[in-house]
Amino acid sequence: MDLLEKLRSVERRTAAFTEAGAMPGFTVIDRVVGPCEVVIRGRRVLMFGSNNYLGLTLHPEVIEAARQAVVEYGAGTTGSRTANGTLGIHKALERELADWFGKQHAIVFSTGYQANLSVIGGLCGPSDVILIDSDSHASIYDATRQTASQVVAFRHNSPDSLRRKLARLPAGRNKLVVVEGLYSIRGDVAPLADIVDVCRAHDAYLLVDEAHSLGTYGVTGLGCAEAQGVLDQVDFLVGTFSKSLAGIGGVCVSDHSELTALHYLARAYVFTASGSPSNIDSVRAAIRIVRRQPELRDQLWTNIRVLRDGLRELGYAISDTDSPIVPILTGDEARTIKLWQRLITEGLYVNLIVPPGCPQDACVLRASCSAAHSPEHLSRALDIFARVGAELGVTRVALS
Ligand SMILES: Cc1ncc(COP(=O)(O)O)c(C=O)c1O
Repeated sequence: MDLLEKLRSVERRTAAFTEAGAMPGFTVIDRVVGPCEVVIRGRRVLMFGSNNYLGLTLHPEVIEAARQAVVEYGAGTTGSRTANGTLGIHKALERELADWFGKQHAIVFSTGYQANLSVIGGLCGPSDVILIDSDSHASIYDATRQTASQVVAFRHNSPDSLRRKLARLPAGRNKLVVVEGLYSIRGDVAPLADIVDVCRAHDAYLLVDEAHSLGTYGVTGLGCAEAQGVLDQVDFLVGTFSKSLAGIGGVCVSDHSELTALHYLARAYVFTASGSPSNIDSVRAAIRIVRRQPELRDQLWTNIRVLRDGLRELGYAISDTDSPIVPILTGDEARTIKLWQRLITEGLYVNLIVPPGCPQDACVLRASCSAAHSPEHLSRALDIFARVGAELGVTRVALS
C-alpha cells in the first residue's frame, strides 16, 4: 500500500461529513469571548466541551502573571530543563506543587503527555512489568511502548482483574500499576482504595494520573486520591496543567527521592524545551487561586448537578457517573456527528467521541462542566439540547 493511502482513507471518511457543517476533529475557534463562550464559524457558541473545569483561563490574576512573566523572562526558554531551560520559576513551581500535595518531591514537564512518557519511561525497562487499566489514556499506552517492559492490561476499574493479573506474575519482577483518577471519556472514577490494597499485597508500585481530577476532586483539590483518603499511599501522582490549572504542562509528585533522577533519565523531559515563562507563572497563579478558593469547586459541582439533571429530564441517555465529564451516549456514528453539528449550529459546543476514540456503535457526546458556567449558560445549553434532541429524535432513540 502507498505510504499516503492511510492518510487518503482518513480524508475520504471525513469528507462525507464536512458538507453538512462543522468538521469532526477540526473545529476552529475564531475568537474566545469568555471562559464559556467562543466564536465558531462566525457565530457565538456556548463552550461545554472544554477542560476549563474551574474557569481560570481568563482569570485576571492568571493573565497578569503570564503578562509579567513574558516581560521579565521573554516568550520562551529556548532550551531543555537539563540545559539552559530551567528558570527559577520552574523550581518555584516544583516547590509549590510538592507543598500543595504534601509530598517531598515534584518534577515539572512540558506537557501532561510528556509527564507520563517521562515517569513511566524513566522508571521501567525491559525486565519490568507495567500493569495498566484497559481504558488508559493514549499517553499511558505510548509511555509503555518506549520501555520494552512487559505490558499487562487489566479490566477497566476492576481491582479483582488487577489482582488476578498480578498473582500470575513470577515473584521478583518489578511491577508498576498505572491508573487514572478520573477517566476522561467515560467520566468514571477509579476505586483507588481497593487498587492501593491490591498493589500493597503484591508489592507493586502505584502511579495515579490525576489529569482530570486535579482541581476538581478532594477537599483541597488534589484529586481522587485525596478524595478517597489514599494520597499518602500512592507512589507517584501525575497531573496536568492543561485542565483546571488553565495552562499547559505536567507534573509528577512523590515521596520517593529517586524521582529527581528523572531530570537526567527521562527522554521526554531531557530532549524537549521547558515550559514557557508565561505558562509557568500563570499555572502558579492558578494554583494560588485553587488553594484559596475552594468555593470554585463547590460551584463546579452545583453546575454538574444542574446539567446532569437537565439532560436526564430531557430524555438523553447519560452515563451513571458523577463527574465534571458528562458522557451523552448517542450510539450510531452518523447520528452522533449530525447531532454534534446541529448543536454547534444552534450555538452549543460539546466534544465528539467517534471511532477510533470508541467502539463503532458506542459513540458519545462528551459534555463537560465548568465553575464559570452561569445559570443562564446552563439553561441556554439545556434549551439547545432540548430543541436539537427533539428535532433529530435523538432523545427518543437513545432511550428506546
Ligand atoms: C489521563 C490523561 N493523562 C494525560 C493527558 C495529557 O495531558 P496534556 O494534554 O496536558 O498533555 C491527558 C489529556 O487529556 C489525560 O486525559
